[in-house]
Amino acid sequence: MLWAGEQGVRVGEQKLAIDGGKPMLPRPLEIGKGVSLLGDEERKAVLEVLESRSLFRYYGPHLLAKVEAFERASCDLLGSTYAVATSSGTAAIRAGLAALGVGCGDEVVVPAFTFIATVNAVVTMGAVPVFAEIDDSWGMDPGDLDGRITDRTAAVIPVHLENCASDMDPLLEVCRRYGVPVLEDTAQSMGATYRGRSLGTMGDLGAFSLQLEKNVTSGEGGLLVSDDERLYLRAARYQDQGGQFVTSTGSERGTGEIEPFVGENLRMTEIAGAIAGIQLTKLPGLLAAQRANHRRILRAIGEPPGLEFRRRPDAEGDGCSSIGFFLPDADLARRFAKALIAEGLPAGRMYRGQPVYATESILQKRTASGKGGPWNCAEHPTGVDYRMGMCPHTEDLAARSALVMVAASYTASQCDAVAEAILKVCGALLGR
Ligand SMILES: Cc1ncc(COP(=O)(O)O)c(C=O)c1O
Repeated sequence: MLWAGEQGVRVGEQKLAIDGGKPMLPRPLEIGKGVSLLGDEERKAVLEVLESRSLFRYYGPHLLAKVEAFERASCDLLGSTYAVATSSGTAAIRAGLAALGVGCGDEVVVPAFTFIATVNAVVTMGAVPVFAEIDDSWGMDPGDLDGRITDRTAAVIPVHLENCASDMDPLLEVCRRYGVPVLEDTAQSMGATYRGRSLGTMGDLGAFSLQLEKNVTSGEGGLLVSDDERLYLRAARYQDQGGQFVTSTGSERGTGEIEPFVGENLRMTEIAGAIAGIQLTKLPGLLAAQRANHRRILRAIGEPPGLEFRRRPDAEGDGCSSIGFFLPDADLARRFAKALIAEGLPAGRMYRGQPVYATESILQKRTASGKGGPWNCAEHPTGVDYRMGMCPHTEDLAARSALVMVAASYTASQCDAVAEAILKVCGALLGR
């Protein structure tokens, strides 16, 4: 039996901090993945680039080729053949969709529970997002995906939320059966694995984010990986204005091996590449520490009655940046998250407990031009409509979800305090 907080009072019978009791942690715990490891190595690498005066990845007076080195190192670490770095994770998804030739007239299946960027990337590339239900892993439900594929489906984007894999084998089986390409949104999960394979390397393409909250960060940044040379060449062209520099050798501008097309500027800077390259070397250590802390907390909390855990399709490969829960109902999920925060835990409800299509711009199919966007393009005068209630299983799971973040920086006693806080809140809200 765990004892903490108020002396001589059993955990689970103590007054919650949210009700005026003593918080389990004296100060709220700080989280941070790659950002918590920023140090002298990154500072040195940035200064090197500044001193070289070569801040652009494709040329400069003394080009250090930091972006290219980051791309190569990412391939080695993830087990991928090709990589192209980008200015953001959203940019990586956009370049991936461009590589697949996705555009007007196409549908792209995305999970109904994800960050809005997954959906925005599809819409801004001119395609119509179609939402599939999630399952208790918070990943796309393979059974539901099967029913969402039509002859307009040009890609499927499974999303690996919070360093934990979607159930890729059944998802890939469905996509292969229909011959639909897969772009994995691995923005939140660089370095995590599923049955021995790196997330992002099982589909045709994998997109990663290097935004501030991610495992590897350069503040903003992204990466797209693939084993398919043609897809890689097309993505590399797209992020470089259709091939301004990627097709050049020295001062000669070549045409490259593939047909030209219009692109945009989604290029990574050398400063970002320098930081990302150092951060990448710290990724295995970050994941190992998160996993050890996660294990310690899980062992201490056991299986409190009334609390269900997010299913992990491959617990061993999980990058372990959070523990996901399901509460018996939405009201309890809200109170659970609030109570944990009051105890000093970095906790909350993923995406406010709502499906991604609850976002007003999506529900109303409103783009910047106000002219209808992909839903009304000539090739695709689609009947696709969005409304609350359209993925009822996802809405139920999302509303009952809560999560506690797990950081690499937690000490053993902080891990124990996290576990005790979870038990205290469970005791008070769910009974024993
Ligand atoms: C699931 C998911 N997809 C895409 C993105 C977009 O990445 P970025 O913010 O680097 O554009 C994010 C960022 O948080 C994300 O969480």
